[in-house]
Amino acid sequence: MAQLWGGRFTRQTDQLVYDFNASIRFDQRFYKQDIEGSRAHAKMLEKQGILTQEEGRQIQEGLDSILRDVEEGKLKITSEYEDIHSFVEANLIRRIGDAGKKLHTGRSRNDQVALDMKLYVRDEIAAVDEELKSLLTTLLTLMKENLHTFMPGFTHLQKAQPVTLAHHLGAYFEMFKRDRQRLKDIRKRMNLCPLGSGALAGTTYPLDREYTACLLGFDGPTLNSMDSVSDRDYLIEFLSALAMIMMHLSRFCEEIITWNTNEYHFVEIDDAYSTGSSIMPQKKNPDIAELVRGKTGRVYGALMQMLTTMKGLPLAYNKDMQEDKELAFDAMDTTKGCIALFEGMLRTMKFHPDVMAGSAVHGFTNATDAADYLVGKGVPFRDAHGIIGRMVLYCLDKNCALDDLSLDEFRKFSPAFDEGIYDAISLKTCVDRRLTIGAPGPEAMRRACDAEQEWLETFNILDK
Ligand code: ARG
Repeated sequence: MAQLWGGRFTRQTDQLVYDFNASIRFDQRFYKQDIEGSRAHAKMLEKQGILTQEEGRQIQEGLDSILRDVEEGKLKITSEYEDIHSFVEANLIRRIGDAGKKLHTGRSRNDQVALDMKLYVRDEIAAVDEELKSLLTTLLTLMKENLHTFMPGFTHLQKAQPVTLAHHLGAYFEMFKRDRQRLKDIRKRMNLCPLGSGALAGTTYPLDREYTACLLGFDGPTLNSMDSVSDRDYLIEFLSALAMIMMHLSRFCEEIITWNTNEYHFVEIDDAYSTGSSIMPQKKNPDIAELVRGKTGRVYGALMQMLTTMKGLPLAYNKDMQEDKELAFDAMDTTKGCIALFEGMLRTMKFHPDVMAGSAVHGFTNATDAADYLVGKGVPFRDAHGIIGRMVLYCLDKNCALDDLSLDEFRKFSPAFDEGIYDAISLKTCVDRRLTIGAPGPEAMRRACDAEQEWLETFNILDK
């Protein structure tokens, strides 16, 4: 048991208590952030004359060597230490002696862990953003390739009006774009440095908090030391953003699973992203899409856990807050993994444009356009709606599409019909004429793609 405390204790910690209390098993993840924070703290202590130059130099070298040895596998992080902070400090003292004992001057593990977690979350925000960027790049490529790939658009999962694959994919582009913007907002709000807040009430040492904040890439120091050590809002915001990303992925997966069924056959998931059955030789299952959909619950769980853990905590630090790590880390790993897998599945998926277009034709997705045609001939819309409704019933009985009716049949329902009706309700016309901003018409979509392209090229999570 290597602990940073013990002076006021007369008996050893019970082994079960030690294990229950220790966090090294999971906080070893941020060894790099812990060392980075310690380096900044030591540099500031030296600048303020709290450490001599020589002590400062020894500490920097010692911390560097610990980082190097951990990364090269020469120094193992073991459960002999209570947490990652104890591990780093104990090893520093072992390597450089007395100077190492001065590192913790004017610092507490409370502001230290608050800093480590912030640095870790900041890195994770950047990593998730990168994954989203490559997903958006793939999406935009597919959109540009499918400006003329007609398909039915649905409401209530019933065929509604014709759209294009580009348009359908473009809806997801918007969602993941907002996700990146959300991450940027969170990063901006959280980017204040808690280091120097001490256990809860700051410190009497003349620390330069502006300086450490600047060294660590923060916009400045936090303004209340009690809040600094007990704030996990940024983590809850991040988990909420991850939950939202998973919700978007899950909806997309649900659609792909449906599109991949024998009945729809809009797409075929690549063999590399499908699995088989141990008993049914014909099966090719969309397990990856199902798993991404399934793992959404797990990320929601992490968000709920964190909200619940925090809800009853009095100020300032409480050990409950150590529970901010395991499920949160899992949520970050899960989300990043799911975005990457999903991107691969999407990129390798085969679309069946003929099936999609056929489905649009045979779903009366042009019924609104047929009614609009009559309106153009002077029939009031409510009457036109009724006429086309009766024609749909007639077609259902004949098992055909509106497009299949002869002009005589059209005219039986209304004398306002003439030859022009066929062109007016063709799938191509129905889609091409939808040209309002945000609509599926290929010309409108091309402009939207250009705007998305420009956004993708210029968006940077680090910009102010
Ligand atoms: N392992 C602790 C955590 O993750 C570090 C802070 C410990 N501070 C304390 N006063 N016990 O929250």
